[in-house]
Amino acid sequence: MSAFNLSINGEIQEVKVDPSTPLLWVLRDHLDLVGTKYGCGIGQCGACTVHLNGAAVRSCQIPIASVGDEKITTIEGLSSNGEHPIQKAWIEHDVPQCGYCQAGQIMSAASLLDITPNPTDDEIDAGMRGNICRCATYTRIKKAIKTASNY
Ligand code: FES
Ligand code: FES
Repeated sequence: MSAFNLSINGEIQEVKVDPSTPLLWVLRDHLDLVGTKYGCGIGQCGACTVHLNGAAVRSCQIPIASVGDEKITTIEGLSSNGEHPIQKAWIEHDVPQCGYCQAGQIMSAASLLDITPNPTDDEIDAGMRGNICRCATYTRIKKAIKTASNY
């Protein structure tokens, strides 16, 4: 076990875990931030997507020892009241079906818009390619990203 001081959603939190523990399990099992989901555990589905210094990453693939002082943002910290443009557009387009993949979809979409404020269809496809939705909400996701880019 080692102690790590993590910057999560604007607060410093200390955890004592094995250094090889994936960030996903630190968030879920040690900090009760269960909005971030486990899907595949091998970096292939995007359900576990969070931001590290604003960039979308797969938290199942990041050992906690490699995080250092990078700023972690989870779905719980994306906005204080659900007012992020992506969250508002998700509601406007009623995007989720079962909901399981949606935290990861939203975190990827938010990062995409930070990097590319007015993405083309191709840029949305490229930016969201790593996020799988078994309910196939892809059409609504794309519409919502377009809407958010126009707020
Ligand atoms: S759980 Fe991390 S990419 Fe699937
Ligand atoms: S909404 Fe069900 S997996 Fe995406």
